[in-house]
Amino acid sequence: MVDLHGHLLPGIDDGAKDLAQALNMARQAVADGIVISVLTPHHLNGVYRNPARHVREQCANFCSELRSHGIALDVRPGSECHLVPELPAALAEGSALTIADRKRAVLVELPVHSVPLGATSILEDILAMGLRPLIAHPERNGELIATTEKLAEWIEMGCLAQVTAQSCTGQFGPQIQDAARRMVCAGLVQVMASDAHRDRRRIPQLSRGRDVVAQWTSPDVARLLTEDIPRGLADGQDVDADQVRGALPARGRGFAGWLRRLRAGSGAALEDSQRS
Ligand SMILES: [Fe+2]
Repeated sequence: MVDLHGHLLPGIDDGAKDLAQALNMARQAVADGIVISVLTPHHLNGVYRNPARHVREQCANFCSELRSHGIALDVRPGSECHLVPELPAALAEGSALTIADRKRAVLVELPVHSVPLGATSILEDILAMGLRPLIAHPERNGELIATTEKLAEWIEMGCLAQVTAQSCTGQFGPQIQDAARRMVCAGLVQVMASDAHRDRRRIPQLSRGRDVVAQWTSPDVARLLTEDIPRGLADGQDVDADQVRGALPARGRGFAGWLRRLRAGSGAALEDSQRS
């Protein structure tokens, strides 16, 4: 599996406290079947600024430590960029890192409770630069929990979405788990990641979340979210978001169609909902 979101780099944000913990997290990732981890310290969130050059250096140092400790984890630099008006400029000048430094997609974090004014416009600017925003854990944003309409609009624009494995397993509570299930089953999610912060509780683990998604949908969808699509992004390839919708079981495809009709304002969607 490939994990596109994790705070393993020690001492530069609210993730791993020190090198020993970071190495422990890397061992946990390998034990779980993760072969590539993109290291994504927070950037531009009002607390942490981790410019690209610094993250590249830290990633190279950590890679050396992994080798000297015999830990077979392929680590690549990235960042979790807060969705702020200056983000497109930071990407253009190269001070904000794209996923695996491949200049194909960028991990974008929303505030916890709301969707900021102008969010869609910032995402459009990033898309116009040829970069695909990967929306980090929409199932944990209060406004997107209440309605998936905004997320559906962004996916239609060309954005991608990343669900967190522990949201799917219920470790953040039933409300977030339910939001994760609705988004995954509607075909609105293309990537699962760990968003690991520690070697206890918020650990780099995807296998349990993958198994939950396989039950909600199918093993094919679970594989797309944890292997095929994140590997493509880590290697700088483009992603066809429709392949997830195509792999959904018939019931899920029906729900995705229901959402599309609802967005189009079709009364048929409401009639469908009254039947089910
Ligand atoms: Fe994160």
